[in-house]
Amino acid sequence: MFCTVTCNPSLDYTLSLPSLCVGQVNRAAAAALTPGGKGVNVARMARRLGLPVRAAGFAGGFTGDALARALAEEGVETAFLAPGTGCTRINVKLLDGRTATELNAPGPAAAESAWEALESSLAGLGAGDVLVLSGSVPPGAGQGVYGRLAAGPAARGALVAVDAEGPLLLQALAARPFLVKPNREELAALFGQPVDTFARARAGAARLQAAGARHVLVSMGADGAVLLAEDGTCYAAVAPSGAVRSAVGAGDAMVAGFLAGWLAGGAPAPALCWGIAAGSAWAFAGGPPSGETVRRFLGQIAAKPLATGGEIE
Ligand SMILES: Nc1ncnc2c1ncn2[C@@H]1O[C@H](COP(=O)(O)OP(=O)(O)OP(=O)(O)O)[C@@H](O)[C@H]1O
Ligand SMILES: [Mg+2]
Repeated sequence: MFCTVTCNPSLDYTLSLPSLCVGQVNRAAAAALTPGGKGVNVARMARRLGLPVRAAGFAGGFTGDALARALAEEGVETAFLAPGTGCTRINVKLLDGRTATELNAPGPAAAESAWEALESSLAGLGAGDVLVLSGSVPPGAGQGVYGRLAAGPAARGALVAVDAEGPLLLQALAARPFLVKPNREELAALFGQPVDTFARARAGAARLQAAGARHVLVSMGADGAVLLAEDGTCYAAVAPSGAVRSAVGAGDAMVAGFLAGWLAGGAPAPALCWGIAAGSAWAFAGGPPSGETVRRFLGQIAAKPLATGGEIE
């Protein structure tokens, strides 16, 4: 089973406006309500790539019910637990044709009993399963929660992927996750070094690998990505070019694509290409693309070995 955990998902309410005037009444030309949250994005992309997917984490109230229903309509099995009290948040995105303004709610806190129930619900995951832990955690949660959720499944042989920032990511590394996927800004913030070249991405990836990560995928937006594989080989691939509708969630699609590619072949370079294809296809579509669209981009992407100095060989 391919299982995603989203501890603070959302319903995203996207309003398209001719222009946005703060402090005045604005009338939207169009509105859409879609499932949101990083693990939720991974689940939607993985499902479109043909995998059986279960979306877990916390969801509550009528908004949590609506989120689960929307995912079920896409063929994603849902196994959300109530966080305690409170409703899943609604995040508002305002598009005025030039910029996107986001209003994100904090979301409900999760009770300790809810964390315990979530951890127990992952007890069945082991060899042959994938577990993706993605995104921020509810207010009040400690920075060690991903390490705690990852430990059991990773020890039993599940492929655990962690896509998180700062201490939340660092504290998960002791569980030896199969994949971590910082973007270049997140990697730069972790070590206080700019990540503006493939060589610097490789150097930062090596530090995460030394701390416990097995494969490190550094996404670099339109420039593509660098993969430092578990066996020490390193690859870079450039993203295809195209008109971007919205790159928000492209990194989540990349996580799904990499894991789907790995499950299909078990080799790092093709998995990197799958990751880029899914990420770029998502960015061009401004949301989840079809599996067929991702496959079409695959042919345009080549992973090249990257030398220690950062030159493409
Ligand atoms: N402008 C772009 N043009 C082409 N491909 C893109 C572009 N932006 C993103 N991508 C694709 O998506 C992948 C992941 O993008 P990015 O590095 O922006 O992830 P991210 O910052 O983690 O995104 P998020 O956290 O919002 O999901 C890139 O490696 C690339 O393949
Ligand atoms: Mg990201």
